[in-house]
Parts: sequence; structure tokens; C-alpha cells
Amino acid sequence: MSTLSDWGEALLSQGEASPLFCIPSQNFCTTAKRWASGAGALGWKTIHPPQYSVVRKGVKVRILLLYHTRWGNCRKIAEALAHGLGESGHQVVLREVSKKGEPYGDFEVLVAGSGTRVGRMTRCLRVALKKLPVTESKPFMAFGTGIERFRDRGDPQSADEIHAFLSGRGLIPVADPFKAAVAGVKGPLSAGEEEMALVHGVEMGRKLLAQGNEP
Ligand SMILES: Cc1cc2nc3c(=O)[nH]c(=O)nc-3n(C[C@H](O)[C@H](O)[C@H](O)COP(=O)(O)O)c2cc1C
Repeated sequence: MSTLSDWGEALLSQGEASPLFCIPSQNFCTTAKRWASGAGALGWKTIHPPQYSVVRKGVKVRILLLYHTRWGNCRKIAEALAHGLGESGHQVVLREVSKKGEPYGDFEVLVAGSGTRVGRMTRCLRVALKKLPVTESKPFMAFGTGIERFRDRGDPQSADEIHAFLSGRGLIPVADPFKAAVAGVKGPLSAGEEEMALVHGVEMGRKLLAQGNEP
């Protein structure tokens, strides 16, 4: 038995292996890499704890608010959220998804939204999010618009997929998905939705400032 992979498999077959297994070694890096590859071969997942390294309590941040809209409803919600988030003094950069591929610049917090397409976000927003240079854990909030009766009966909405997509990339949610309602495919927004978005933005802005996103 020469490698840690062999050890891992042997121990697992005896029911004794644990992911918390600790092996002291003079050459720990090499040992850890071998162990990780052995664990990977066994189908174990490496668990990365969330990193809350970006937003500190009392610090105003640069927020990229990125959205895609077809008939302008999501833009109205984005503008209301931006208004609310800015109330705490954060710098909000409101950007519609760029078809020309211009960069969106640096940001510390991401807010992203689109209309719903068969329960999902729009393709344009997905393409844009995939291209965003998100290499570290950042706070985020997802939003979207969807038909009122579909939203109210609990059908999946764009905001749900955006939330899951960004969580899957290691970003840290600061709020549940925000789902605004439209009366029909082309709108208009249902009564009170812009006001709700404004209030939500104010609350999120204050939360980021008062608590940061430290655990
Ligand atoms: C092809 C297509 C599929 C749609 N599917 C859904 C859906 O599954 N659920 C829903 O609530 N709304 C659905 N809608 C309605 C959109 O939510 C609505 O058009 C959008 O919210 C309008 O926002 P916008 O003006 O910002 O594009 C769909 C619209 C289109 C055009």
C-alpha cells in the first residue's frame, strides 16, 4: 500500500475513513494533494467554507446592478432597487446587459435580474453572468419579473434561477430572491411593485452598511 489513495480506499472499505482524517507529514502539501486526489476518486466533495471577505460593517460599497429587459418592466424594478440601495450612500452602477460586450467594471456587490422565460432567467442575462469575472466570494441579490398569477402560485421565476446560479458560483446571498409581478407578458408591472422594490433596495442597502456580510 503506497499512496494515500490506497489508504483511503482501504479504510473506506473497512468503514473507518472520515473526511476529517488528519495526517501529519513533513511534506504536508504533497501529502494533502495526494489525499485530496484519493478522496476525489472516492467521490468525496471538498467543502469550502464561505468567505466573507468583501463587505465590512460601516463601509459603503460599489454595487453593480445588472439587468436584462425586453419590454422595460425589469428596468423599472432595477431603477427602483438602485434608488433604494443608493439611499445608504452606496455607489450603484445600473447597467443593462451589454450586447457589445463592454466590461462592467469592478464591483463589490452584485445585484442581477431579468424577466422570466419558462421559469428561468433570460438567455442574455445568463450569458452576461457567465462572463462576469467573479473570482472571489461576493455578496449578491437576485431579482426578476414574472407573471403575477404564476409567481403567486409558486412557479419558478427568473429570480430563483439567478439566485441558484450565483450561489453555485460561490457568491453569498444577502437576501432571498426578489420577485416582482407583471400583469401580462409585456407588462405592465402590477400595482405597488416598484414601491416594494424601492423599499427592498433601501433595506438591503442599510443591511449591507450596518452588518456588512460578515458571519
Ligand atoms: C417566451 C416567454 C416565456 C415566458 N415564461 C414565463 C414563465 O414561465 N413564468 C412567468 O412568470 N412569466 C413568463 N413570461 C413572462 C415574462 O415574465 C415577462 O415577459 C417579463 O417579466 C417582462 O419583463 P420585461 O419587460 O423586463 O422583459 C414569459 C415570457 C416570454 C416571452
